[in-house]
Formats: sequence, structure tokens, C-alpha cells
Amino acid sequence: MSQPKRYTVTAALIYANGPIHIGHLAGCYLPSDIYVRYLRLKGEDVLFVSGTDEHGVPIMIRGFMEKKSPQEVVDHYYEVIDKSFKDFGIEFDIYSRTSKPVHHQFSSEFFTTLYNKGYFTEKLTEQNYDETAKMFLVDRFIVGTCPHCANPKAYGDQCEKCGSDLSPDELINPHSALSGTPPVKKETTNWFLPLDQMQPQLETYIGKHTEWKTNVGGQCRGWLKQGLHPRAMTRDLNWGVPVPLPNAQGKVMYVWFDAPIGYITASKEWFEQPETRKTLSYGGRPLGNSWEPYWKDADTKLVHFIGKDNIVFHCLIFPAMLMAHEGYVLPDSVPANEFLNLEGDKISTSRNWAIWLHEYLDEMPGKQDELRYVLTATSPETSDSDFTWADYEARVNNELTAVFSNFVHRTMVLTHKNYAGKVPAAEKYTREDLLLLEEIARFPSRIGAAIENYRFREAQQEVMALARLGNKYLSDNEPWKNPDPERVKTILNVSLQVCASLSILCQPFLPFTSEKLRRMLNIGAMNWNNALSTNLLAAGHQLNEPVMLFAKVDPALLKNQLAKLDVIRKELEEKRKAEDAAQQAREKGSTAAPAAAIKDIEPAKAETTFDAFSQMDIRIGTITAAERVPKSDKLLKLTVDTGLDTRTVLSGIAKFFAPENIIGQQVTILVNLAPRKMMGVESQGMILMAENSAGELSFVVPGTGNVNNGSTVR
Ligand code: MF3
Ligand code: ZN
Repeated sequence: MSQPKRYTVTAALIYANGPIHIGHLAGCYLPSDIYVRYLRLKGEDVLFVSGTDEHGVPIMIRGFMEKKSPQEVVDHYYEVIDKSFKDFGIEFDIYSRTSKPVHHQFSSEFFTTLYNKGYFTEKLTEQNYDETAKMFLVDRFIVGTCPHCANPKAYGDQCEKCGSDLSPDELINPHSALSGTPPVKKETTNWFLPLDQMQPQLETYIGKHTEWKTNVGGQCRGWLKQGLHPRAMTRDLNWGVPVPLPNAQGKVMYVWFDAPIGYITASKEWFEQPETRKTLSYGGRPLGNSWEPYWKDADTKLVHFIGKDNIVFHCLIFPAMLMAHEGYVLPDSVPANEFLNLEGDKISTSRNWAIWLHEYLDEMPGKQDELRYVLTATSPETSDSDFTWADYEARVNNELTAVFSNFVHRTMVLTHKNYAGKVPAAEKYTREDLLLLEEIARFPSRIGAAIENYRFREAQQEVMALARLGNKYLSDNEPWKNPDPERVKTILNVSLQVCASLSILCQPFLPFTSEKLRRMLNIGAMNWNNALSTNLLAAGHQLNEPVMLFAKVDPALLKNQLAKLDVIRKELEEKRKAEDAAQQAREKGSTAAPAAAIKDIEPAKAETTFDAFSQMDIRIGTITAAERVPKSDKLLKLTVDTGLDTRTVLSGIAKFFAPENIIGQQVTILVNLAPRKMMGVESQGMILMAENSAGELSFVVPGTGNVNNGSTVR
């Protein structure tokens, strides 16, 4: 679009069902903040809105898991998320919530407008219903056995074990997660948006935006090629915005209908809240006095920052809603990012594989810009990328500290030492000085162009390139050695001008650093084009005392972070092993594959003494033979080589292990347990087994080393 008059920038309304992690930051919050900070520095009129998405099944699931109401869930996470964004320096004009009455009101009006225009088609469909809980069931609330991998805990929309997309009808033995009873089909009416009929308009719209990122345009064209289908905009749920129609009791809006409208509600809210609560961080320019131009005037540029899983909703469904309503501008760009991985693995909230922002802020205080820098440097702009602590350390040490911080520090210290902190006058420029000064003036537009094209990684690299130029200039010219006092003045003057430009150009990326640097240089708020000037600091201007902008990463802090991930990795590994063992047991033809009910973790036992413990003679042994005990579905008769002897042990593991599969299995065995007769056979000892909370058994075996039969366990 030609020069817009104002910008409306949104960052995805994240589900308030968990805290923020680095994947969210890299996906959309950091890029949007950089973009907006840049626009504000340019003096553009920009409104930056975001908030939490507080409806939808993800919230209900979290409530179900935590035994809390959905409202309690969102109240809790809203606070956590809002605070961590503030502490991290993400400066939204407003951070709102979709559970607010103003949003319910506004999205209802929007729905009603579409309804009155005849946009919705009413359709009777059959949905899964839980007769005990008296509730319709979303796919996620139906559990059963996966037809692909036999995981007994697959969900009606997906099997988390093998990753297959499922529908509830594919599950073996489907039952409701709420009541445990099998779902029944029940008829219900819902309202559909006929996306199929809107396809031509949407094709024209997408067709106009050939400049969109390839990952975004590609997905859109893919959906269009498949052909769009009518999509239900209402759901039979009790959590969400009630459908504002008389015959729609017990129905709420589809979360993807109300959530994007939340961007508009938040904008409206910003304009309607008291003057004192409005942030003026965009540089103090008064905005217009109504939300409407920000959503309705053709000279507004609307930009949605999101992660790649949100593309279809922002590029097709929300635009379709806006078209149907009429009077709104359509998204001008949707610069979605791909995903960030963590140490080679997919970030996952449910698996706790993440670096949580609030924990990072707590454990690495004052290091916001380090994380901002690393996340932008590895931003998944065109494909998935990976965050590692080794990379973090390398970037902080070799780039932020060795280049940026070192350059500024040397310049500041020398100026204080030689001129009591007053900017020295440049007496006579050399050709090299002039080249550097010319080069400085080229950076603002170069960095700006990259930002305007959503290439934040490249933009930040340019900032670092300027710091590198300064650092090299200083090292090449060695003012600390130079015997010519006039020359030294000029070198430091030029270096200080580079510092001043850096303080402005780094602001979108490293806002905390920019502020520190400007305080050191004793300069106030600046705008982007000030960085064009190569004479920002006049001769004689008094500087403040130098402070270090960055330091090498403290190895103790790093170790702590790595140790945390190690613990999680081990837990995940254990869990996976247990699941695999249980799975194998089921596959190996055990008599009954128990769809074990989840038991609570057994409470801790009372304290014991060391003496009591050391009376137990526990050894490592190997099963040399195994057979079923006739007429028992629990017991296997095992022959075990204990290193001391070969003996017979009865073990209640028949439901989990087939005899032929455990011959050669190493075990841990209590050898001095008094013999006991069961089913006519004497058992001489006991095999130790680990029982998980689902009641599934695994052998307890040495994890490492060469442990021969007869080895003792103590
Ligand atoms: N809640 C969604 C998520 O976390 C994002 C919603 S964005 C909005 O993936 F447009 F709907 F607001
Ligand atoms: Zn599966």
C-alpha cells in the first residue's frame, strides 16, 4: 500500500491457558514489538493491541485438568502473561481480555450484523453428546484407543503418541473424558459462514497480496486450491460468548469468530479508557480520538503478527468476516513466523519443554535484551529454527559483549580519561573518518527497509554491523596509543557519533540497552531520523559515567538453565520408556490390555531406619525361564539366576508381560524374603517392579555399567 496514514498492529491473542514461552516470543510478540517501536521512532501514528484469548476448548481443557473453572484459569494466566510481557519490554498500547463484558457486547453486535445480513446458514448436524454429563462433547473430550498405534489414551482429534490426526469416529472404544461413558449422537443446530460462496472474493484478496511472505501466501493458496467449506461459527459449549439469537440457548460463538474481533474491541477500549491510562509511548503524539479510523479508513495499514498455526484464521476466515460485515479495512499483511524449537525438540506446553518467560526474567534478572537479541538473531522467519543455550552464550559473549559493549565502553572510558567526559571536537577528518561517517548515515534507511519488509533478523544484523564498524575503527586507530592529541580527539568524536546512532538504531531490538546508552551519552528521547545525523553529540557535550552494557554470560547461570532442561528431558525420557514398556506389554499378547484408570500417586510411606533397610538383601539377577501359572491370570513362574543360586519366583506380572518375551531380562530381586507358597508353587524371593500411576508395571533394572548377576543393591 502507498504511504499509510496510520497503522493498526496486532499480536495474536494468546490462549490464557499457560504462561508465555520463548516460542511465543519468537513467533509474534518480539517481531511485532520491534516493528511498532520502529514505527513510533519514525513518528508514525500507530496503535498496538493484543490481549488474551479466554474462550475456546483449550481453556476448558486446562480447567478440567486443573480442577478449576475456566474463569479461574484465565484470571490466573492473564496476570502471569500480562506481567511477563511488561517486564520483557513488549509495549502494547493495550493488553486486553476477551472475557470482558465490552468484548462480549461488541462481538455480539458483530455476530448480529452478519446474521441480519443473512450471512449465516443454519444447519442441523449430529454431534457427540455425553448423556451423563448432559453436554455436547468437542472432539478433544472424547478419548479412546488410537487405531494406528493402539495408544489407549488418544484424543478424538489427535493421538499424542503417534501424532495422527483423528476424528472421534476412528477411536476404538471411545468414551467421554468427563464421565467415562460412550458418547451418543445427538442432533443440534449451528450457524455456518459459507466460506465456499465467499471463495471468489477471498481469491481476489489473496491474489492482490503477492508480496506476502512465501510461507503465508503458500498456505493461503493451498487452502483456496482445496476449496473452502462452510464453517460453523457457533458451538454447543457452555464457555464463550453466548450466541445472541433467541433459539440458541446453550450455544456460544466459535472461539475463532470472537477472538479476532477482540483486536477491534481492544482498540475501542483503548480509545474509551481514561486519558491517564493511555500509554503515550509512541512518542507522545496525540492519536486520533476514535477507534474507527484505525479499523475503517482506507489509509490505515492493518498488520497481524501471528505464528504459523494461525494463518488460515487471519488470512481467510477473519477477512471473510470483515468483508461480510462491510466497512472494515482488510489485513494488509500477515507476517507469520514459523516455529522455534528448543535444543532440537519441539517446544510443548503440555510436555513442559520450554523456557518460560516469567522464569527466565526471574532467574536471569536484567537480561531482557540478551534474550531479545538471541531470539531475533535466530528468528524462525522463513523456516523453523532452534534455540540453544550454547548459541545464546556465543552470541552474548562474542557479539553483544565483545563487539557492542566493548566498543561503547572503550569509547566512553577514553573520553572520560582524556577529556573529563566532555565530547572532544573533531579537528580534521581523514578519508577513513569521512567514509565511516558516510556509512553511518546509510544505516537508518537500510535497517528501516528490512524492518518494513518484516526481515527483523537482517535488520538486527545491520545494527550489529554498525557496532562492528565502530569497534574496528577504534581498534585500527588505537587512540590510546596515538601521540597526536588532535588526532585522538577526532577519533573519539567519530566513535561517539557511532555510539549515538547506535543508541537510536538499537532501540527497537534492545530497548533497555538503548535507554542505558542514551543515559550514558546524556541524550534524551530521539527519533529514527536523528540517527542520520553524524553530529548528534556536539563538542563540549557532557557525558555521564560509563556503565557496562553487556557482560559475558555467568557460567553458573548457564549451568542452572541447562540443568533445568536436563531434569525435564529425563522426566520425559522416563515417561516415554514407561509408555513404551506398557505398550509392548500390550502388544506382546498379554491376557488383558488394561485401559488402566489413572490412579493418584501413592502417598509417601512413614520413615524407616537404615538398619531396617539394610536387612533387605537385594540383588541383580536374570530371568532364565518363564511360564504361566495354570489357572492364574496374574502370575508367572520365573526361574531366576541370582548369582548366588538359581531359584523359582512367582511374580504378578502376567497381565503385562508374555513369558516368551522376558527370558534374558535382567531384574532386581529381593532374595531373603521368606519363601511363600502360591497356587501350589513355592516362591523364593520377589522381583522388584515399578508401578506407574496408571498401574502399569516395568522392571527395575540397572541404568548403567556392567552389573553382573549377584550384584548387590544398596
Ligand atoms: N488464541 C489463539 C492461539 O493462541 C490465537 C488467537 S488470535 C486471534 O493460537 F486472532 F484470534 F485473536
Ligand atoms: Zn496413535
